[in-house]
Amino acid sequence: MSHSSLRRSYTWLAPIYNLFLRGATNASRRHSLAHIPADAGWKVLLPGVGTGLDCPWLPPGNRYIGLDLTRAMLQQIRCPQLGCIEGDSQQLPFADGSFDAVVLHLILAVSPRPEACLQEAVRVLKPGGILLIFDKFLPAGRPAPVRRWLSPLTAQLATRMDVELDALLQTCNNLDLQSNEAALLGGWFRRIRLRKVIT
Ligand SMILES: C[S@@+](CC[C@H](N)C(=O)[O-])C[C@H]1O[C@@H](n2cnc3c(N)ncnc32)[C@H](O)[C@@H]1O
Repeated sequence: MSHSSLRRSYTWLAPIYNLFLRGATNASRRHSLAHIPADAGWKVLLPGVGTGLDCPWLPPGNRYIGLDLTRAMLQQIRCPQLGCIEGDSQQLPFADGSFDAVVLHLILAVSPRPEACLQEAVRVLKPGGILLIFDKFLPAGRPAPVRRWLSPLTAQLATRMDVELDALLQTCNNLDLQSNEAALLGGWFRRIRLRKVIT
């Protein structure tokens, strides 16, 4: 899916996004973001920040930057502690090792090239920095034919359904998997915590 069609879809979805996603995802966001310490003075990046549904759970005393492809999604954000910019999560406008934590909530499956999105997140992380993922992934070794069959269609609208976590993580050799927990819908949505290896 091209950037322009993704932007078109999310421009259309922006006014109703919170209505459908907020309630269902609040608990997962809270659990995921609890791994960021409060008052640590950390610099934290949220690629594909969307409408800012993570905002209520961002611990105070850190500096947060949200980046998104879709201006209409960013315009929904009401969060004084979050600085926002338009940009592409597959080509981040930041230097290597700039952030203490990167939050990838519901962006890897949306991104046409999830491996590029992950590699960019890891590139801008400091060694020892943490990566927090909340997204849907196909279970390893399970055929999941309906999701694979539907994915080309859903990808045209808003999100892929065929991203495999194991294959994705294998594209980065400097990540240490710290936890991988079921979040929603029988474990289809997962909460994952990784740390960038210190070399
Ligand atoms: C499913 S929403 C998730 C929003 C938010 N992270 C959340 O958890 O609610 C996906 C978001 O990713 C954005 N997006 C899609 N492709 C992108 C890209 N290549 N770079 C940055 N943002 C992108 C969309 O505009 C949309 O706001």
